[in-house]
Amino acid sequence: MLILGMESSCDETSVAVVDGETRKILSNIVASQIDVHRLYGGVVPEIASRAHIEAISNITYRALDEAGVTLADIGAVAVTANPGLIGALLVGVNFAKSLAYSRRIPLVAVNHVKAHAAAAYLTDPALEPPFLALIVSGGHTSIFEVTDHRTFNTIGCTRDDAAGEAFDKIGRVIGMPYPGGAALDKLAYEGDPNAIKLPSPALAGDNLDFSFSGIKTAALNYINAEKMKGGELKVADIAASYTHAVVDALAKKCDIALGRTGHKRMVLAGGVAANSHLRAAIEKVCKKHGATLTVPPISLCGDNAAMVAQAGYFEYAAGVFVGTELNASAND
Ligand code: KG4
Ligand code: ZN
Repeated sequence: MLILGMESSCDETSVAVVDGETRKILSNIVASQIDVHRLYGGVVPEIASRAHIEAISNITYRALDEAGVTLADIGAVAVTANPGLIGALLVGVNFAKSLAYSRRIPLVAVNHVKAHAAAAYLTDPALEPPFLALIVSGGHTSIFEVTDHRTFNTIGCTRDDAAGEAFDKIGRVIGMPYPGGAALDKLAYEGDPNAIKLPSPALAGDNLDFSFSGIKTAALNYINAEKMKGGELKVADIAASYTHAVVDALAKKCDIALGRTGHKRMVLAGGVAANSHLRAAIEKVCKKHGATLTVPPISLCGDNAAMVAQAGYFEYAAGVFVGTELNASAND
């Protein structure tokens, strides 16, 4: 059963064709707007919406072409309906609704965070719930107990900013181009992870929650104080210490979560799952608990429509369809 997936929640326009039953990707076209937003140091929502409008039709034809199929072969259209930038989401949702309605193709709505987790099913076609999932992206940091393909119970989450946003913020301050996450990842290898003492984003107490506002402020204060002293900023030490503190906190809560729930399967997904330090740390925690870890390849960690299509397949399989009344929502 072929699913046409569509993603436009932030700064990537993406359309993919996926065989939901076999979890095989036939095409996955991702048009990134990063070069445009980089000029402003972050995503400009209005520019994102306009760029999605310009790209989506063309990208859809390309995805069908690359898969070697036509709309007649598509069993369902799956679109990210929430959460995300509202104007950006509306472009994908309205395009998908029009396409589905005009061609009489069933339409399913997909939650972007659940879609990130679905990248794991494309990575390991044999993967089945239950499992624990750490989803870390520019907008989300959550630990879920995934009990079936569509049921996600939140057992931990950030109380304020997301891990990706925290990486991007510090990246920008030390001169990395937007988004700073990937650049910080590399730079961290050149610095001392214990050079700068930073507060842990792992909240104290009997919970699985995070807070990234404290570490962001502490790092900014450190950088400003160093600048005022007039010395050269040790950017590699900042990258290493900051990455160490963030990764350590995520790994610590996953360690507790695996111990508490007894799950023997774990999924790490979302844009920040591309972080090499985080991948290694979660792998280590899983080993400790005798749990198997599924982490998508880098190409499926960031926003893409193949993961949306796979998540959409589970909606289709459950018979959960939507019609032209579908609206986008900025919230979870
Ligand atoms: O999932 P995603 O593409 O978009 C959202 O749903 O938010 O995640 C984007 C985030 C950005 O904050 C970016 O800096 C971060 O993922 N990211 C990384 C790495 N690659 C991308 N963060 C840390 N290390 C990386 N290697
Ligand atoms: Zn995302």
